[in-house]
Amino acid sequence: TVLVVDFGAQYAQLIARRVREARVYSEIVPGTTPVDEILAKNPAAIILSGGPSSVYEPGAPTMDPALFEAGVPVFGMCYGFQLMAQTLGGQVDNTGAREYGRTQLHVSRSGSTLYEGTPDEQPVWMSHGDACSAAPEGFEVTASTDVVPVAAFENDEKKLYGVQYHPEVMHSTFGQQILEHFLYRGAGIRPTWTTGNVIDEQVASIREMVGNKRAICGLSGGVDSAVAAALVQKAIGKQLTCVYVDHGLMRKGETEQVEKDFVAATGVELKVVDAEERFLNALKGVSDPEEKRKIIGREFIRVFEQAQAEIVAEAPGDQPVEFLVQGTLYPDVVESGGGTGTANIKSHHNVGGLPEDLEFKLIEPLRQLFKDEVRMVGQELGLPEEIVQRQPFPGPGLGIRIVGEVTKERLDLLREADAIAREELTAAGQDSQIWQCPVVLLADVRSVGVQGDGRTYGHPIVLRPVSSEDAMTADWSRLPYEVLEKISTRITNEVRDVNRVVLDVTSKPPGTIEWE
Ligand code: XMP
Repeated sequence: TVLVVDFGAQYAQLIARRVREARVYSEIVPGTTPVDEILAKNPAAIILSGGPSSVYEPGAPTMDPALFEAGVPVFGMCYGFQLMAQTLGGQVDNTGAREYGRTQLHVSRSGSTLYEGTPDEQPVWMSHGDACSAAPEGFEVTASTDVVPVAAFENDEKKLYGVQYHPEVMHSTFGQQILEHFLYRGAGIRPTWTTGNVIDEQVASIREMVGNKRAICGLSGGVDSAVAAALVQKAIGKQLTCVYVDHGLMRKGETEQVEKDFVAATGVELKVVDAEERFLNALKGVSDPEEKRKIIGREFIRVFEQAQAEIVAEAPGDQPVEFLVQGTLYPDVVESGGGTGTANIKSHHNVGGLPEDLEFKLIEPLRQLFKDEVRMVGQELGLPEEIVQRQPFPGPGLGIRIVGEVTKERLDLLREADAIAREELTAAGQDSQIWQCPVVLLADVRSVGVQGDGRTYGHPIVLRPVSSEDAMTADWSRLPYEVLEKISTRITNEVRDVNRVVLDVTSKPPGTIEWE
């Protein structure tokens, strides 16, 4: 395992993904983790991430020098680089010489461990206020920029490396190569981590964990739960029953698709529970987003518990149902504050929204994976494209796409609008261009319109098409005007009570992808 030490901001996740793209398994640990704890994990190498701080700020993260003495290869990036320089006795100056964005890097030794086979001049992505002016003793300076005399240093003997810039971002053209050079040449790690390994590993550990007991899995129709279910089914076969809870917050046609496509692809045992009334009752009068998320998460578990009782009652002689399979992903774990001590932005219903009196043991076979990796696992397991390539859809469903109270009428209205938007996006060939397109109903907002010859006083629908690599950050998609026009015209014509369609042009951050 390569450990990515997270000094804040968004960089650590991206670095972890890049390491995995190099087919080396990686995990993130918070920057506050004590060195002996880091070393106890027996890492093959350590990467120190960038972060928003200056090494001169009071309270800025620091690093115990013991980390560099342990014989474990270390690669510092940006803040991690400066921290390394400072800790090992180099010189970091608060010169005010800032560099942000694309910068030209001058490589001074092209045959070095990091720069072997890459050009002497290469574009890199910089983002720093401080600059390293002298490398620590025993280090060779291998690159510079017009502003920074020491933009990269290397110590082959101690296997310590660092670069001032962000090799993990796309704009650093040779960044991936340099990262791989660190991993393969510097740290001597072999690229053996594949989704095939993940499957074998998970299948073995799930078998061991479950033994002869039984498990149930909540299917939402989304990629994550489908892949989780297929993986667990591969491990324990008929000991798994999938439960699909129709909470009434699904999109149009979704239930039928799960019943048909998924069962056809996997042959899994499926139990469909109609719980619409129960969820709508529980959500009555509630418009606070966090409260909605918690209620939906809680009701989900209650329905599962009930399904569990029924499954047991149906086959009384069998082993008890002790396990619940969930499609929790690595970004969910990190974003819910479970991974790196980051702030709790939202209670994802499959992580933070779980009730405390949970009666199941959890199986979360995708807990270490990013979305694109989950898709690869799904493909490898033979799931059909329509399932594997589906856009993400949140567990709480349309319940968090109605701003205001959730009612049956509003859900029906939003379902119609959403179906139109999806249909037109697909028809226009946009599915592969966008990450997802939430369609949101502003139920508490009304505006005046005119239709036919009469005044209308209806609700706005928001289109929120975004592009993203992993949902951690996102940009609004520049959809062609003709497509937007078509969607707008159809929604205002065909959906009762909607007289306005608006486009969300906010990136993430500052906006999240979903409105709630
Ligand atoms: P946000 O809105 O936080 O969403 O930018 C990031 C991604 O996560 C999805 N999402 C969820 N998925 N349970 C899920 O399984 C949830 O509670 C949940 N909330 C948001 C969202 O659709 C986007 O892809």
